[in-house]
Amino acid sequence: GTRGGILVAIDGPAGSGKSTVAREVARRLGLVNLNTGATYRAVAKLSLEEGVGTGDEAALAALARRVRLRGETVSVDGETVPDAELRTPEVSAAASRVSSHPKLREVLVEVQREAARAARRDGGAVVEGRDIGTVVLPDAEVKVFLSASAEERALRRARQSGREAELERIRVAMAERDRQDSEREASPLRAAPGAERLDTTGMSLDEVVERVLGLAREASSPD
Ligand code: DC
Repeated sequence: GTRGGILVAIDGPAGSGKSTVAREVARRLGLVNLNTGATYRAVAKLSLEEGVGTGDEAALAALARRVRLRGETVSVDGETVPDAELRTPEVSAAASRVSSHPKLREVLVEVQREAARAARRDGGAVVEGRDIGTVVLPDAEVKVFLSASAEERALRRARQSGREAELERIRVAMAERDRQDSEREASPLRAAPGAERLDTTGMSLDEVVERVLGLAREASSPD
């Protein structure tokens, strides 16, 4: 159509399989995968480096203005930030805290929309986060909300990072992040109206990917 490519919004809590599913769906459809969590992580990393407190909303919003998302790359002041530097436990915890501030979210939502607009012109994108279907891209052609039991999500995260021995610590940290992400006032984690809810507990990655691909095919068929 005249709008360009398709946008697939995938929301859900940590460990719901979101990132893996989004990456695989993007690969199968030949679309770019936009990871919006990385923009919150970039602000969190900056705040740790520059000693900005996680409660200083105005200063955090100013840090957010230095962040850009271009396809799979996050940059700060025009410099690519390596993914590994965004995935440390310290940055993860700080990202959840900084993401509670509406002023910072406002800035990052625009950063994310700009990335989605650019991707749409190039065929489309699979956009992953917490508030994509509800706030960032309410007009996305496909909206999916993934969930899984807390136990399964902690186990997946532990395996993914080779830290099976730390399962209990991971479960506790994840529960705390879930609580913060779903209880915050600004854009709490929840399924968008019209989103397809998928409980992935006990489902294989392939099964989940096939379901999302099915929705994408339906959405892009002529009628
Ligand atoms: O998806 P992730 O774990 O990389 O996200 C890191 C943090 O950023 C997470 O604790 C919640 C926040 N986040 C958000 O508030 N909104 C998004 N669209 C994506 C992430």
